[in-house]
Amino acid sequence: MLSREDNETVTRTGPGTPAGKLLRAYWQPAALVSEISGERPAKAIRLFGEDLVLYRTGTGDWALVSRFCAHRGVDLSFGRLEDGGLRCLYHGWLYGPDGRCLEQPAEPEQSRFHEKVRIAAYPCLERNGIVFAYLGGGEPPPLPCYDCFVAPQEYTFAFKGLWECNWLQGVEGGIDPSHVSFLHRFLDEDPRETYGQQFREEVAGTGKSLSHLVGEHYRPDIEVEPDEHGLRVFAVRTLPDRQRHVRVTNLVFPNAFVVPFGDDQVFCQWHVPIDDRSHYWYMILYDFRTPTDKETLLRQRLSAVTLPDYRCVRNRENDWGFDPAEQRSRTYTGMGLDINVHDQWAVESMGAIQDRTVERLGVSDRAVTANRRLLLRAITAHEAGRPTPGTATDQRSAAALRGPLAVDTVAPAEGWREHWRTREAKRRTESPWAGALS
Ligand code: FES
Ligand SMILES: [Fe+2]
Repeated sequence: MLSREDNETVTRTGPGTPAGKLLRAYWQPAALVSEISGERPAKAIRLFGEDLVLYRTGTGDWALVSRFCAHRGVDLSFGRLEDGGLRCLYHGWLYGPDGRCLEQPAEPEQSRFHEKVRIAAYPCLERNGIVFAYLGGGEPPPLPCYDCFVAPQEYTFAFKGLWECNWLQGVEGGIDPSHVSFLHRFLDEDPRETYGQQFREEVAGTGKSLSHLVGEHYRPDIEVEPDEHGLRVFAVRTLPDRQRHVRVTNLVFPNAFVVPFGDDQVFCQWHVPIDDRSHYWYMILYDFRTPTDKETLLRQRLSAVTLPDYRCVRNRENDWGFDPAEQRSRTYTGMGLDINVHDQWAVESMGAIQDRTVERLGVSDRAVTANRRLLLRAITAHEAGRPTPGTATDQRSAAALRGPLAVDTVAPAEGWREHWRTREAKRRTESPWAGALS
């Protein structure tokens, strides 16, 4: 439970807000590369309550600038991509990628007025299918060396989706290890090729799918430990024959998490505010063993959303496709096989901004409470100019931000802590892209 004041502090991310300033101090996903391609590579985007235009310059670099012209407020997302920048359609003012106004063609020829005009502009970089932007002030920090960034592109897959609720609800869903025993339970085993099928595949050595395994063992011991990147969360379930099911997930501070997805895959998922009542999740999935089948993954994900907004086909307006007959016999939710929809429903159903003053948290919410404490502490630290988790100040500290290690495995009860690390180390050393990981 949070006080009203703390709930406001952690959920509000507009310009000048404490959490907004903290989140802006990190590189944040701004768009999929695939969204900004084709004949005219420019798109209006909204990020942290700011209206912006993201475009590719003539030299192939990314530029992110204010959406509205400094002259008389016209929408620059329709502007002309020419002369090394973005030109307003109304009176031809030209803005460079750094936001400087370079030309004002209707002004007197000798005028230097343009030198006084500048719109906001933010640095961008591209990694594995996503354009990241840095909306904080000053020099951007180096990008951490997390696996999702160092993985070769052919072993990755990126996508996004619109969730109509506050960003923190999305993050809190991702770091909550006990919900998987319920929300993602399948009452029958469906072999169909759907996204999240890994959840229905057998966990080696148990004869059971992950869905059944965690569904039967629904009371995990949850431990949370701090690390450079944020938090590591252990969910340990007691199995017969002195075995443990160990699931290691991570909060990647401040608004992402890294979770295992089957034996060889892991994904990092960010929850990035559009504004305080809606956000996009962005994901980079990476495979330690095999190049990803991008075509299939894309087909699966595209079938769940409508473009160009990536709004989910199942949403509040259609009760997320809730089917009581399905709920009786096939899935715990009655909302289909796509586990992403289950997560979406859970966090959207709370309302746009969850009222955390009236919730009742238990010990199984340990990771959620640990994250809130961390977030509130980091907001204070950032205001005071002190470092916060997951920030690098130079290349050396960026290189120290690695992994994070995420694994789903069955281990002997004695020594499970060593077992999962050994298994993870093996997966990394045997990976075709082990070179990038060392
Ligand atoms: S409004 Fe943009 S040039 Fe006049
Ligand atoms: Fe989930």
